[in-house]
Amino acid sequence: MALSDFDLVLFGGGGDLAMRKLLPALYNRERAKDIPPDARIVCVGRHDWTRESFIEEVNRSSRPHTASGSPDPAVWDAFCRRIDYVALDATDAASYERLVNAMRKPDANRPVTRVFYLATPPSLFAKICHNLSQSGLATPESRVVLEKPLGRDLASARQINAEVGRVFSESQIFRIDHYLGKETVQNLLALRFGNVLFEPLWRREWISDVQITIAEELGVGNRMDYYETAGALRDMLQNHLLQLLCIVAMEPPVSATPDAVRDEKLKVLRSLKRFTPNSIAQNVVRGQYRSGHVQGTPVPGYRKEPDANPSSRTETYVALKAEIDTWRWAGVPFYLRTGKRMADQLAEIVVRFKTIPHSIFAQPNRSFQANSLIIRLQPDEGLQMNLMAKTPGDGMRLRPVELELDFRETFKMPRMEAYERLLLDVLRGQLTLFMRADELEAAWEWVEPILEYWEQEGDEPMPYTSGTWGPPAASALIGRDGLQWREEALPEE
Ligand code: BG6
Repeated sequence: MALSDFDLVLFGGGGDLAMRKLLPALYNRERAKDIPPDARIVCVGRHDWTRESFIEEVNRSSRPHTASGSPDPAVWDAFCRRIDYVALDATDAASYERLVNAMRKPDANRPVTRVFYLATPPSLFAKICHNLSQSGLATPESRVVLEKPLGRDLASARQINAEVGRVFSESQIFRIDHYLGKETVQNLLALRFGNVLFEPLWRREWISDVQITIAEELGVGNRMDYYETAGALRDMLQNHLLQLLCIVAMEPPVSATPDAVRDEKLKVLRSLKRFTPNSIAQNVVRGQYRSGHVQGTPVPGYRKEPDANPSSRTETYVALKAEIDTWRWAGVPFYLRTGKRMADQLAEIVVRFKTIPHSIFAQPNRSFQANSLIIRLQPDEGLQMNLMAKTPGDGMRLRPVELELDFRETFKMPRMEAYERLLLDVLRGQLTLFMRADELEAAWEWVEPILEYWEQEGDEPMPYTSGTWGPPAASALIGRDGLQWREEALPEE
């Protein structure tokens, strides 16, 4: 569907996210000829840049992040011509006049979609929305995009929802979780609901357990200020990991319309078994990286990173066992984990099926590896199905084999980054891949007992060496159920 003309206002326009992700994503869509000729991008920031000095900054900080790092000069120039810059203090109502002057006036004959993208700290969301409303910029047709973190607990998430909701209706609010824009996440929907093969097996009778991992090699980088207020539970688990869990576990929605999908995701969040202090002590592991080597390079520990608090108790790793109290999933453990400075950079979902009930072959049952389906989100998007097959030759000897589907190989087409897809969806008004207010609140509600417990109990996060798979307690967590994380179960190379 072609985009209609738009004015996209980027609050935090000079910030890291805009420079590294949003502007490069928009440039990629420019190159793909998706952006209508008159569309404009108005970056808003506190810095006193002129338009010219801002474009210099874009050249310096954003250009290297485009697909190849060296964009087509003519397309890049055309893209930069769309960009304007307005220096403004987001909390000062009077300065919005400058933004009003930089925007095109509503014209019934030439409608222009207005989008306000708030890539700012959440503490500014309410103020910005209020000022947009006061200055007449927020019209009933305009849209607002909210970047995470969407609060730091249930109360602050509710407050954000309420305050933004005073200006924008729910159908105008796009809460971003960039994991939902990843190709393979949508392919998971295709896999589950575009094939008959999996749905009959997608339940407690046939599935033994599910593992969802997002592992990063990177450390906290230059985001210490933010990260110290967040930690892995707030930064990754409450949003990205829970969204993945919802898509794996939800009932088939009646259609792919936004509310049909979001209703089903909400039901999953509401059926997650609630944590108690006892179950947290048993089923949640938190860790913090110490110095070590990541892919051979020495790296400092979290407490020795620039600007770190030397006695910080912020977790950079979390693993937990979740359960979903429904007929479909009762008794099936969902193990979620995420960490920084891990042994590898990967995001994957492993669905392990039950073992065969009886072996008709000479081999004993235990030599049959359970079937599993691995959905790889990154780095190499793909699917892997592990099966048992007969080894060629005389006799009947079975061994595990892998069926591989590499999305890059199969679809030899240009890829879209998550932010490209999500920005297109915002500009088209398509809400399916964005979180609804009640979903966001249900996710906070579920993690809140863990946050409270950590706050009260006063223990340190468990140390783990950078470049490993996290604290040994995480292996013990899954080991108690007689299971292993996927990399632990792989044969030694
Ligand atoms: C962000 C987190 O939401 O996701 C970061 O704030 C994290 O801490 C990032 O590094 C990971 O995203 P991706 O797409 O690189 O896996």
